[in-house]
Order: sequence, then C-alpha cells, then structure tokens
Amino acid sequence: MRHPLIIGNWKLNGNKHMVNHLITALRNKLSNIIGCDVAIAPPMIYLDKAKYNLADSRIALCAQNVDLHVSGAFTGEISANMLKDIGVKYIIIGHFERRSYHKESNQDIADKFAIIKNEGLIPVLCIGESKAENDAHQTEAVCASQLDAVLNRIGAKAFENSVIAYEPLWAISTGKSANPFQAQTVHKFIRDYLVLHDNTVAEQVIIQYGGSVNAGNAAAFFTQPDIDGALVGGASLNADVFAAIVKAAVQAKQKLALASCCL
Ligand code: PGA
Repeated sequence: MRHPLIIGNWKLNGNKHMVNHLITALRNKLSNIIGCDVAIAPPMIYLDKAKYNLADSRIALCAQNVDLHVSGAFTGEISANMLKDIGVKYIIIGHFERRSYHKESNQDIADKFAIIKNEGLIPVLCIGESKAENDAHQTEAVCASQLDAVLNRIGAKAFENSVIAYEPLWAISTGKSANPFQAQTVHKFIRDYLVLHDNTVAEQVIIQYGGSVNAGNAAAFFTQPDIDGALVGGASLNADVFAAIVKAAVQAKQKLALASCCL
C-alpha cells in the first residue's frame, strides 16, 4: 500500500515571520499524524531557515526548482547538491508556471530529473494538459509525451522512489479543481503507462493530484485508488486548511485499506 504524500507549494509567498509562524502551527497540528508523508516547499531563500524550524519534526523539505547544472558559471542558480547540502528531500520540476513563464522544455525537465536522481533526492515531476488540450481530448497524449521525455532520457527505473504530480493547468490557482473521478481516470492512465515499462515501479510510484485542492474537496480526491496525495498551492499557506488536507488523506487511505482487506 502506497503512503499518501502531501506537499505544500508556497510558491512566491512568505517572509521570515511567516516561515516561523506557519511552521510552528504545522508542527503543532501535525505532530501525531501517521500514515501520510508531508513536505513544505517555501521559496528558496527560506529553505535553510525552514529546515532549522522543522528540526526533529516529520515534515520534510521540498524545493520549488533546481538548476540544470551542478556547479560553475551560472549566475543566480541553485544546484541539486546545494539543496541536498541544506537538507532538502524533494524537488518540484516541470511545474506549469516554470514551463510557461520560464519556457522550460520537456528536455530541460528530463535533465533536471536525472540530476536530482543523481544526488539521491526525490523529483516531483509535474505533468498535465492545458484547457485547450483537455477540450481536444489530448490529456492522455500530453501526459504520455511529458512522461516519455524522462523515460527516454533515463528509463523507467528512474521513477522508483520518485513522485509524479498530475496538475491540469486549468485547475491551478483557479479555484476550479478537476472532477475527482476524471482525475482518477488520468492517474490510472499514468500508472498504466508506466506499467508498460516496469510493473513494480508503476505500482510504487506516488501520483499526486494538484490544482485547487482545499479542505472541502480533498477527501473526494484521496478516496480514489490511484490518487496518492496532493501538491497543494494556495491552501498550503493556511495551517488549519493544510492540516485538514493531510488529515483527509490519512482518513481516506485508511478507508481504502479497510475496504480492500474486506473484499
Ligand atoms: P493551487 O496550486 O493549489 O493553488 O491550485 C497547485 C500547484 O500549483 O501546485
């Protein structure tokens, strides 16, 4: 049984005060949570401070981006080994906001995936279709080509101990989440696509849903068999809401486990 994983993507939000305040609140609210992995992704400049504030907690640290290079003359960039050095565990790559605003290609993202694996860190590979692609019934083709970039670059084994986040672009920061049943169909497609390459890896890989997840809709996603948690943006900036989403994941997966053992 896969453990659900909830990651809070703070995006370009926060300051020192917020890091202190939000992490203190999360530590209190999530201190006795078991059965769900949790991570937060503050802006790069606050990662080290967040690591200090998270000391001895079960909440892991996630970075929102990484450079394609390991070291050298790349002004302003941050490498995977630097992130590892300060205690980061997960790194988000391929987020729609980076694909779109920073023109990152599938190839760039596959290269980043390889660099992250090389450092022994966990990539959180975001994939998903635009509204026009969704309307044109191209969701599966788009997700397949985004997966292919990594599969062709480093093979299916690279997905072992990796995370995929299915985030339909039209659901990100819009308040209009995908329908949980439709999301499940895409998650199943993603898992089946990996089965074609490696059955064991496909069964183990965590596939999160992302796009306007909140405390009200979280349970409906997590009760789907192939939705293993969420990449949460806006709702992760509120400790009560984020904790409620984590608790919804724990409860939903307990329900699923109970149902499967009674079959
Ligand atoms: P949202 O963002 O939850 O604010 O829609 C999700 C994401 O961009 O990962």
